[in-house]
Amino acid sequence: MIVLVTGGAGFIGSHTCIALLEAGFKVIVADNLCNSRVEILNKVMEITKKNIIFYEIDVTNEHSVDRIFSEHHIDGVIHFAGYKAVGESVKEPLKYYYNNIISTIVLVRACQKYKVQRFVFSSSATVYGENEVPFKESMILKPTTNPYGESKTISERILIDVSEANPAFSVALLRYFNPIGAHESGLIGEEPNGAPNNLMPYITQVAKGKIEKLRIFGADYPTFDGTGVRDYIHVMDLAEGHIAALIHLKEGIHKYNLGSGKGTSVLELVTIFEEETGIKIPFDVIDRRPGDIAECYADVRKAREELNWYVIRDLRMMCRDAWRFEKNI
Ligand code: NAD
Ligand code: UD1
Repeated sequence: MIVLVTGGAGFIGSHTCIALLEAGFKVIVADNLCNSRVEILNKVMEITKKNIIFYEIDVTNEHSVDRIFSEHHIDGVIHFAGYKAVGESVKEPLKYYYNNIISTIVLVRACQKYKVQRFVFSSSATVYGENEVPFKESMILKPTTNPYGESKTISERILIDVSEANPAFSVALLRYFNPIGAHESGLIGEEPNGAPNNLMPYITQVAKGKIEKLRIFGADYPTFDGTGVRDYIHVMDLAEGHIAALIHLKEGIHKYNLGSGKGTSVLELVTIFEEETGIKIPFDVIDRRPGDIAECYADVRKAREELNWYVIRDLRMMCRDAWRFEKNI
């Protein structure tokens, strides 16, 4: 089976390429390298000792996408390509709506033209907005607080409508919770551009001495220790969720939460990181970050039952792997 992976040089895409190659899929990556480097794909090939066909293209460009579909018999698409910085999306909404929505439309049109019936989409837990935890796939989505989140909700809606009009078009909407960690080789991991926005890369950069202190965004949430609670998932478990989705995908539209199902607070994650690495993480508690919610974790029963997928890597492993990668770069 040949899979087109858009955004395959990025954080989640590159780990998913490893899982795909190891499961015997042939992989074509389409990435414009706006938030990644071609060396990452070389590392994926080094780890797996398998080949990737790479197109350096922008997937909002219809002609470039058409060329890939015309040159290969593609069996399925996994669409990771997109922008993901929440704060930037508030400042530059059009950039986010254009890239994240047009890329989805262009790819779905190519799938229709070339009769490709399997489509796996990178969605986000952010689409649930401020719902009651644990988030279930059947919940009515609440508005998100930023254009990034809305671009995911709108892309989901487009895919739902297309699939309802053409039921043979099988779509998995994968709602990721908080992917962290890195491949166990330490060769690939999360490489944020500039100062990190997300918690784990921030912690690893403090541990390395690149940043002086962690800033904890609020300790007055209605959670057991006052800090924000999230559902952290090892990026390799998340990657393997895509394989399960591709294999089990049936006709129509299917939504799945990919998380661990367990909530962890900021302070708990810091403590586990310190225990696993022996490095103290100094921090200050500051004001809440605008747009943050108190708690976000998944009900993962649907993915377990229908995809036979569940996480096998714990928080300690996530911390060790994230740190091994940070030390290497
Ligand atoms: P990433 O930025 O590391 O990877 C995205 C990749 O897409 C990059 O390699 C980038 O160069 C490429 N890209 C972006 N726009 C492109 C375009 N128009 N044409 C071709 N390539 C393009 O991000 P990631 O963390 O790997 O996230 C992958 C997907 O998962 C994104 O859609 C993101 O919104 C979604 N997601 C991520 C998280 C997370 O915490 N990382 C959580 C939920 C959802
Ligand atoms: C972020 C995105 C969200 C996206 C999710 C998964 C924002 C506002 N939201 O959410 O849209 O779906 O990632 O990629 O960026 N924290 C600190 N100090 C820090 C960084 C984070 O205390 O320096 C706290 C946060 O307040 C939160 C937790 O750590 O409670 C996790 O934060 P983060 O890693 O940014 O993920 P999310 O907020 O879940």
